[in-house]
Amino acid sequence: MKFFLDTAFVHEIREVASWGILDGVTTNPTLVAKTGRNYREILEEICSIVDGPVSAEVLSLDFEGMVREARELSKVSEKIAVKIPFTKDGLKAVKYLSSEGIKTNVTLIFSPSQALLAAKAGATFVSPFVGRLDDISHVGMDMVRTICDIFSNYDFETEVIVASVRNPIHVVEAALCGAHIVTVPYSVMELLLKHPLTDIGIERFLADWKKAFGNISLLDAIK
Ligand code: E4P
Repeated sequence: MKFFLDTAFVHEIREVASWGILDGVTTNPTLVAKTGRNYREILEEICSIVDGPVSAEVLSLDFEGMVREARELSKVSEKIAVKIPFTKDGLKAVKYLSSEGIKTNVTLIFSPSQALLAAKAGATFVSPFVGRLDDISHVGMDMVRTICDIFSNYDFETEVIVASVRNPIHVVEAALCGAHIVTVPYSVMELLLKHPLTDIGIERFLADWKKAFGNISLLDAIK
């Protein structure tokens, strides 16, 4: 499973990129607004850090506006995948943009039927929002499982990005569903690293070593 970071904060992207496990980035208007920075500058900087796809969302809601904005966004870098909200005009825009070779990520997917239509229109990615469904007492991951089953029935090339991720369990379940990608906020990425028994285990190993060998380093010990 590929790991994308769901953020527009460049320092978070640099940090996770340094871990060696970052495959891409997703942004949205809310995340960009939080930075208070210029949109183009952020996108250029993100694209210079990340090797994989970088999602950037349109603001227009009509077909013509979406296509115009998508063309401009895609000029920033060939890494840009243009995020298009799932609407009737959005669907038309995805079909049109895919014929121009522009990568698209259909966002705000809340049902398998929406994902199916987006894939038929030629979306590069679909983003089912798991956490926002959980928030209203629907099991978001059930939608992801169904989408993954449908896509594999028909060999769609569209990749599933599990989005609106709130906790490490979402990440593990996304992997169990066979989703291609999960996009994770930085706070959840950090939680994925942690286990109290790992920390306790490290402390105990070091304490036992010190008890037996004092301050002798490993390099001295194996000389
Ligand atoms: C995905 O691409 C979206 O940017 C994001 O996952 C939305 O998450 P939220 O529901 O936590 O805002």
